[in-house]
Amino acid sequence: MENGQMKIGVLTSGGDAPGMNAAIRGVVRTALNKGCKVIGIHKGYIGLINGDITEFSSKDVSDIMNRGGTILHTARCPEMMTEAGITRAAAIYNILGLDGLVVIGGDGSFRGCKALAERGANVIGIPGTIDLDIACTEYTIGFDTAVNTGLDAVRRLRDTSSSHERCSVVEMMGRDAGYIAMWCAVAGGAEEVLVPENKGTVTDDMVIEQILMNRSRGKRHNLVVVAEGVGGTVKLAKKIQDITGIQTRATVLGHLQRGGTPSAVDCMHASMMGYLAAMDIIEGKKNRIIAYNRGRYESLDLNEALSMTKKMDDEYYNVVKLLSI
Ligand code: F6P
Repeated sequence: MENGQMKIGVLTSGGDAPGMNAAIRGVVRTALNKGCKVIGIHKGYIGLINGDITEFSSKDVSDIMNRGGTILHTARCPEMMTEAGITRAAAIYNILGLDGLVVIGGDGSFRGCKALAERGANVIGIPGTIDLDIACTEYTIGFDTAVNTGLDAVRRLRDTSSSHERCSVVEMMGRDAGYIAMWCAVAGGAEEVLVPENKGTVTDDMVIEQILMNRSRGKRHNLVVVAEGVGGTVKLAKKIQDITGIQTRATVLGHLQRGGTPSAVDCMHASMMGYLAAMDIIEGKKNRIIAYNRGRYESLDLNEALSMTKKMDDEYYNVVKLLSI
Protein backbone atom coordinates (compact mmCIF):
# COMPACT_ATOMS: atom_id res chain seq x y z
CA MET A 1 0.00 0.00 0.00
CA GLU A 2 1.44 3.42 -1.02
CA ASN A 3 -0.29 6.50 0.44
CA GLY A 4 -3.39 4.43 0.96
CA GLN A 5 -3.32 3.23 -2.66
CA MET A 6 -3.08 -0.51 -3.35
CA LYS A 7 -0.45 -1.79 -5.78
CA ILE A 8 -1.13 -4.89 -7.87
CA GLY A 9 1.45 -6.69 -9.99
CA VAL A 10 0.70 -8.89 -12.98
CA LEU A 11 2.86 -11.26 -15.00
CA THR A 12 2.45 -14.04 -17.57
CA SER A 13 4.63 -17.11 -17.20
CA GLY A 14 5.43 -20.38 -19.00
CA GLY A 15 4.11 -21.06 -22.51
CA ASP A 16 1.94 -18.26 -23.89
CA ALA A 17 -1.74 -18.98 -24.55
CA PRO A 18 -4.36 -17.14 -26.61
CA GLY A 19 -6.50 -15.13 -24.18
CA MET A 20 -3.66 -14.10 -21.85
CA ASN A 21 -3.96 -10.52 -23.13
CA ALA A 22 -7.65 -10.44 -22.27
CA ALA A 23 -6.77 -11.59 -18.75
CA ILE A 24 -4.09 -8.87 -18.42
CA ARG A 25 -6.65 -6.30 -19.56
CA GLY A 26 -9.15 -7.69 -17.04
CA VAL A 27 -6.67 -7.29 -14.17
CA VAL A 28 -5.42 -3.85 -15.25
CA ARG A 29 -8.78 -2.21 -15.95
CA THR A 30 -10.43 -3.66 -12.81
CA ALA A 31 -7.56 -2.50 -10.61
CA LEU A 32 -7.41 0.99 -12.17
CA ASN A 33 -11.18 1.39 -11.85
CA LYS A 34 -10.91 0.57 -8.14
CA GLY A 35 -8.16 3.17 -7.63
CA CYS A 36 -5.14 0.83 -7.52
CA LYS A 37 -1.76 1.16 -9.21
CA VAL A 38 -0.90 -1.70 -11.58
CA ILE A 39 2.63 -2.88 -12.26
CA GLY A 40 3.24 -5.06 -15.32
CA ILE A 41 6.18 -7.44 -14.93
CA HIS A 42 7.90 -8.47 -18.18
CA LYS A 43 8.93 -12.02 -19.18
CA GLY A 44 7.38 -13.85 -16.25
CA TYR A 45 9.31 -14.62 -13.07
CA ILE A 46 12.63 -13.70 -14.66
CA GLY A 47 11.28 -10.13 -14.98
CA LEU A 48 10.32 -10.19 -11.30
CA ILE A 49 13.79 -11.39 -10.32
CA ASN A 50 15.37 -8.64 -12.46
CA GLY A 51 12.86 -5.92 -11.54
CA ASP A 52 11.87 -5.54 -15.21
CA ILE A 53 8.60 -3.61 -14.77
CA THR A 54 6.25 -0.98 -16.23
CA GLU A 55 3.40 0.91 -14.60
CA PHE A 56 0.20 0.27 -16.57
CA SER A 57 -2.25 2.95 -17.67
CA SER A 58 -5.69 2.09 -18.99
CA LYS A 59 -4.58 2.93 -22.53
CA ASP A 60 -1.68 0.45 -22.36
CA VAL A 61 -4.18 -2.39 -22.55
CA SER A 62 -6.31 -0.96 -25.38
CA ASP A 63 -6.73 -3.15 -28.45
CA ILE A 64 -4.96 -6.16 -26.97
CA MET A 65 -7.73 -8.61 -26.18
CA ASN A 66 -8.08 -9.76 -29.78
CA ARG A 67 -4.36 -10.54 -30.02
CA GLY A 68 -2.75 -13.92 -29.32
CA GLY A 69 0.44 -14.18 -27.27
CA THR A 70 1.05 -11.88 -24.31
CA ILE A 71 2.00 -8.20 -24.38
CA LEU A 72 3.97 -8.78 -21.16
CA HIS A 73 6.03 -11.49 -22.89
CA THR A 74 6.72 -14.71 -21.09
CA ALA A 75 9.49 -17.16 -20.28
CA ARG A 76 10.19 -20.42 -18.54
CA CYS A 77 12.28 -19.58 -15.49
CA PRO A 78 14.60 -22.26 -14.08
CA GLU A 79 15.76 -19.71 -11.44
CA MET A 80 12.35 -20.08 -9.75
CA MET A 81 13.28 -23.70 -8.96
CA THR A 82 16.25 -22.53 -6.88
CA GLU A 83 16.27 -21.10 -3.33
CA ALA A 84 18.31 -18.12 -4.51
CA GLY A 85 15.86 -17.30 -7.32
CA ILE A 86 12.78 -17.58 -5.09
CA THR A 87 14.37 -15.48 -2.36
CA ARG A 88 15.28 -12.79 -4.86
CA ALA A 89 11.81 -12.80 -6.44
CA ALA A 90 10.23 -12.44 -2.97
CA ALA A 91 12.62 -9.60 -2.12
CA ILE A 92 11.69 -7.69 -5.31
CA TYR A 93 7.99 -8.28 -4.54
CA ASN A 94 8.56 -6.53 -1.19
CA ILE A 95 10.70 -3.74 -2.65
CA LEU A 96 7.95 -3.00 -5.20
CA GLY A 97 5.50 -2.76 -2.27
CA LEU A 98 2.96 -5.02 -3.95
CA ASP A 99 -0.30 -5.88 -2.16
CA GLY A 100 -0.74 -8.82 -4.50
CA LEU A 101 0.68 -10.41 -7.62
CA VAL A 102 -1.47 -11.98 -10.33
CA VAL A 103 0.33 -14.84 -12.09
CA ILE A 104 -1.20 -16.01 -15.36
CA GLY A 105 0.30 -19.37 -16.29
CA GLY A 106 0.27 -23.13 -15.97
CA ASP A 107 1.26 -25.74 -13.42
CA GLY A 108 4.95 -24.76 -13.25
CA SER A 109 4.00 -21.10 -12.77
CA PHE A 110 1.68 -22.08 -9.92
CA ARG A 111 4.55 -23.87 -8.18
CA GLY A 112 6.29 -20.48 -8.30
CA CYS A 113 3.16 -18.94 -6.70
CA LYS A 114 3.35 -21.45 -3.85
CA ALA A 115 7.04 -20.73 -3.28
CA LEU A 116 6.40 -16.97 -3.17
CA ALA A 117 3.37 -17.39 -0.88
CA GLU A 118 5.56 -19.37 1.55
CA ARG A 119 7.81 -16.30 1.70
CA GLY A 120 4.98 -13.97 2.60
CA ALA A 121 3.83 -12.74 -0.82
CA ASN A 122 0.14 -12.61 -1.74
CA VAL A 123 -0.26 -14.42 -5.05
CA ILE A 124 -3.38 -15.03 -7.14
CA GLY A 125 -3.06 -17.58 -9.96
CA ILE A 126 -5.07 -17.52 -13.19
CA PRO A 127 -4.87 -20.80 -15.15
CA GLY A 128 -3.33 -19.94 -18.51
CA THR A 129 -2.22 -22.87 -20.65
CA ILE A 130 -3.45 -24.47 -23.84
CA ASP A 131 -2.90 -27.92 -22.26
CA LEU A 132 -5.89 -27.95 -19.82
CA ASP A 133 -3.65 -29.88 -17.44
CA ILE A 134 -4.42 -27.97 -14.22
CA ALA A 135 -6.31 -30.24 -11.85
CA CYS A 136 -8.36 -27.65 -9.94
CA THR A 137 -10.18 -26.22 -12.96
CA GLU A 138 -12.24 -27.49 -15.87
CA TYR A 139 -11.09 -24.53 -18.00
CA THR A 140 -7.69 -22.98 -18.72
CA ILE A 141 -7.07 -19.90 -20.86
CA GLY A 142 -6.08 -20.81 -24.43
CA PHE A 143 -7.42 -24.37 -24.50
CA ASP A 144 -10.52 -23.46 -26.50
CA THR A 145 -8.54 -21.57 -29.16
CA ALA A 146 -5.95 -24.38 -29.39
CA VAL A 147 -8.73 -26.94 -29.89
CA ASN A 148 -10.32 -24.77 -32.57
CA THR A 149 -6.97 -24.50 -34.35
CA GLY A 150 -6.51 -28.28 -34.07
CA LEU A 151 -10.02 -28.93 -35.32
CA ASP A 152 -9.51 -26.64 -38.28
CA ALA A 153 -6.39 -28.68 -39.16
CA VAL A 154 -8.30 -31.96 -38.77
CA ARG A 155 -11.03 -30.74 -41.14
CA ARG A 156 -8.51 -29.58 -43.73
CA LEU A 157 -6.61 -32.86 -43.49
CA ARG A 158 -9.83 -34.81 -43.88
CA ASP A 159 -10.57 -32.95 -47.15
CA THR A 160 -7.26 -33.90 -48.70
CA SER A 161 -6.98 -37.40 -47.25
CA SER A 162 -10.47 -38.33 -48.43
CA SER A 163 -9.73 -36.95 -51.93
CA HIS A 164 -6.62 -39.15 -52.11
CA GLU A 165 -8.05 -42.06 -50.08
CA ARG A 166 -5.17 -41.72 -47.65
CA CYS A 167 -4.63 -41.96 -43.94
CA SER A 168 -3.67 -38.80 -42.04
CA VAL A 169 -1.84 -38.90 -38.74
CA VAL A 170 -1.91 -35.54 -36.98
CA GLU A 171 -0.06 -34.59 -33.80
CA MET A 172 -1.48 -32.06 -31.34
CA MET A 173 0.36 -30.16 -28.60
CA GLY A 174 -0.41 -30.73 -24.93
CA ARG A 175 2.83 -31.80 -23.22
CA ASP A 176 1.97 -34.79 -20.95
CA ALA A 177 -1.79 -34.30 -21.25
CA GLY A 178 -4.01 -35.49 -24.09
CA TYR A 179 -6.94 -33.08 -23.70
CA ILE A 180 -6.36 -31.10 -26.91
CA ALA A 181 -5.86 -34.30 -28.92
CA MET A 182 -8.90 -36.00 -27.39
CA TRP A 183 -11.22 -33.03 -27.95
CA CYS A 184 -10.05 -32.72 -31.58
CA ALA A 185 -10.57 -36.48 -32.05
CA VAL A 186 -14.13 -36.43 -30.69
CA ALA A 187 -15.12 -33.14 -32.36
CA GLY A 188 -13.31 -33.99 -35.61
CA GLY A 189 -14.65 -37.54 -35.95
CA ALA A 190 -11.23 -39.23 -35.87
CA GLU A 191 -10.97 -42.97 -36.39
CA GLU A 192 -8.32 -43.35 -33.67
CA VAL A 193 -6.65 -41.29 -30.97
CA LEU A 194 -3.48 -41.90 -29.01
CA VAL A 195 -3.09 -39.87 -25.81
CA PRO A 196 -0.74 -40.28 -22.83
CA GLU A 197 -3.79 -41.22 -20.74
CA ASN A 198 -4.41 -44.35 -22.85
CA LYS A 199 -0.76 -45.14 -23.58
CA GLY A 200 -0.16 -48.87 -23.33
CA THR A 201 -3.84 -49.73 -23.66
CA VAL A 202 -4.07 -48.40 -27.24
CA THR A 203 -1.08 -49.66 -29.23
CA ASP A 204 0.20 -48.98 -32.77
CA ASP A 205 -0.92 -52.51 -33.71
CA MET A 206 -4.47 -51.79 -32.54
CA VAL A 207 -4.50 -48.61 -34.65
CA ILE A 208 -3.31 -50.54 -37.71
CA GLU A 209 -5.85 -53.30 -37.13
CA GLN A 210 -8.58 -50.66 -36.92
CA ILE A 211 -7.45 -49.10 -40.20
CA LEU A 212 -7.49 -52.53 -41.92
CA MET A 213 -10.99 -53.19 -40.57
CA ASN A 214 -12.12 -49.77 -41.76
CA ARG A 215 -10.86 -50.60 -45.26
CA SER A 216 -12.70 -53.91 -45.30
CA ARG A 217 -15.86 -52.01 -44.30
CA GLY A 218 -15.40 -49.67 -47.27
CA LYS A 219 -13.95 -46.61 -45.47
CA ARG A 220 -11.81 -44.67 -47.91
CA HIS A 221 -9.83 -42.54 -45.49
CA ASN A 222 -8.69 -42.59 -41.88
CA LEU A 223 -7.72 -39.88 -39.47
CA VAL A 224 -5.54 -40.70 -36.48
CA VAL A 225 -4.89 -38.05 -33.82
CA VAL A 226 -1.75 -38.36 -31.70
CA ALA A 227 -0.96 -36.29 -28.62
CA GLU A 228 2.49 -34.73 -28.29
CA GLY A 229 2.96 -36.68 -25.05
CA VAL A 230 2.75 -39.93 -27.04
CA GLY A 231 4.79 -38.65 -30.01
CA GLY A 232 6.29 -40.88 -32.70
CA THR A 233 3.85 -39.49 -35.28
CA VAL A 234 6.14 -39.72 -38.31
CA LYS A 235 7.20 -43.25 -37.35
CA LEU A 236 3.59 -44.32 -36.86
CA ALA A 237 2.58 -42.92 -40.26
CA LYS A 238 5.38 -44.89 -41.93
CA LYS A 239 4.40 -48.07 -40.06
CA ILE A 240 0.76 -47.70 -41.12
CA GLN A 241 1.78 -47.20 -44.76
CA ASP A 242 4.30 -50.08 -44.72
CA ILE A 243 1.87 -52.58 -43.19
CA THR A 244 -1.43 -51.58 -44.82
CA GLY A 245 -0.16 -50.24 -48.14
CA ILE A 246 -2.43 -47.21 -47.60
CA GLN A 247 -0.64 -43.94 -48.38
CA THR A 248 -0.20 -42.19 -45.05
CA ARG A 249 0.92 -38.64 -44.26
CA ALA A 250 2.06 -37.18 -40.94
CA THR A 251 1.41 -33.60 -39.80
CA VAL A 252 2.79 -32.12 -36.58
CA LEU A 253 0.96 -28.90 -35.62
CA GLY A 254 3.42 -27.83 -32.92
CA HIS A 255 3.55 -24.14 -32.00
CA LEU A 256 0.87 -23.24 -34.58
CA GLN A 257 -1.52 -24.29 -31.82
CA ARG A 258 -0.21 -21.69 -29.38
CA GLY A 259 -0.91 -18.67 -31.59
CA GLY A 260 -3.86 -16.95 -33.19
CA THR A 261 -6.81 -14.77 -32.26
CA PRO A 262 -8.36 -16.00 -29.03
CA SER A 263 -11.83 -17.53 -29.36
CA ALA A 264 -14.91 -15.92 -27.81
CA VAL A 265 -14.81 -18.53 -25.02
CA ASP A 266 -11.19 -17.67 -24.19
CA CYS A 267 -11.82 -13.90 -24.27
CA MET A 268 -14.86 -14.32 -22.02
CA HIS A 269 -13.27 -16.53 -19.34
CA ALA A 270 -9.95 -14.66 -19.43
CA SER A 271 -11.72 -11.32 -18.88
CA MET A 272 -13.76 -12.75 -15.99
CA MET A 273 -10.73 -14.39 -14.41
CA GLY A 274 -8.67 -11.20 -14.71
CA TYR A 275 -11.46 -9.26 -13.03
CA LEU A 276 -11.88 -11.86 -10.26
CA ALA A 277 -8.14 -12.05 -9.54
CA ALA A 278 -7.88 -8.27 -9.14
CA MET A 279 -11.00 -8.24 -6.95
CA ASP A 280 -9.56 -10.96 -4.69
CA ILE A 281 -6.55 -8.73 -3.95
CA ILE A 282 -8.69 -5.61 -3.50
CA GLU A 283 -11.00 -7.49 -1.10
CA GLY A 284 -8.00 -8.67 0.96
CA LYS A 285 -8.11 -12.34 -0.07
CA LYS A 286 -4.78 -14.13 0.09
CA ASN A 287 -3.12 -16.80 -2.05
CA ARG A 288 -5.87 -18.06 -4.32
CA ILE A 289 -6.31 -19.75 -7.68
CA ILE A 290 -9.18 -18.63 -9.88
CA ALA A 291 -10.96 -21.65 -11.38
CA TYR A 292 -14.02 -22.46 -13.44
CA ASN A 293 -15.98 -25.58 -12.51
CA ARG A 294 -19.50 -26.83 -13.22
CA GLY A 295 -20.44 -23.52 -14.88
CA ARG A 296 -19.22 -21.25 -12.06
CA TYR A 297 -16.10 -19.23 -11.33
CA GLU A 298 -14.38 -20.07 -8.05
CA SER A 299 -11.59 -18.62 -5.95
CA LEU A 300 -9.78 -21.59 -4.39
CA ASP A 301 -7.18 -21.73 -1.65
CA LEU A 302 -3.79 -21.99 -3.39
CA ASN A 303 -2.50 -24.99 -1.43
CA GLU A 304 -5.78 -26.90 -1.67
CA ALA A 305 -6.01 -26.18 -5.40
CA LEU A 306 -2.46 -27.39 -6.02
CA SER A 307 -3.03 -30.65 -4.15
CA MET A 308 -5.95 -31.66 -6.41
CA THR A 309 -5.65 -34.31 -9.11
CA LYS A 310 -7.76 -35.03 -12.18
CA LYS A 311 -8.16 -37.85 -14.63
CA MET A 312 -9.37 -37.75 -18.21
CA ASP A 313 -12.88 -39.18 -18.61
CA ASP A 314 -12.58 -42.69 -20.20
CA GLU A 315 -15.88 -42.03 -21.94
CA TYR A 316 -14.17 -39.73 -24.49
CA TYR A 317 -12.13 -42.57 -25.99
CA ASN A 318 -15.17 -44.87 -25.99
CA VAL A 319 -17.11 -42.21 -27.90
CA VAL A 320 -14.38 -41.85 -30.54
CA LYS A 321 -14.57 -45.60 -31.12
CA LEU A 322 -18.37 -45.79 -31.06
CA LEU A 323 -18.84 -42.93 -33.51
CA SER A 324 -16.13 -43.87 -35.99
CA ILE A 325 -17.78 -47.02 -37.41
O1 F6P B 1 2.43 -25.90 -22.13
C1 F6P B 1 2.14 -25.41 -23.39
C2 F6P B 1 2.99 -26.07 -24.43
O2 F6P B 1 2.69 -25.52 -25.69
C3 F6P B 1 2.90 -27.61 -24.48
O3 F6P B 1 1.75 -28.05 -25.17
C4 F6P B 1 4.19 -27.97 -25.14
O4 F6P B 1 4.60 -29.26 -24.78
C5 F6P B 1 5.15 -26.93 -24.59
O5 F6P B 1 4.37 -25.84 -24.18
C6 F6P B 1 6.18 -26.45 -25.57
O6 F6P B 1 7.04 -25.60 -24.90
P1 F6P B 1 8.08 -24.61 -25.61
O7 F6P B 1 7.29 -23.52 -26.27
O8 F6P B 1 8.92 -24.11 -24.48
O9 F6P B 1 8.81 -25.42 -26.62
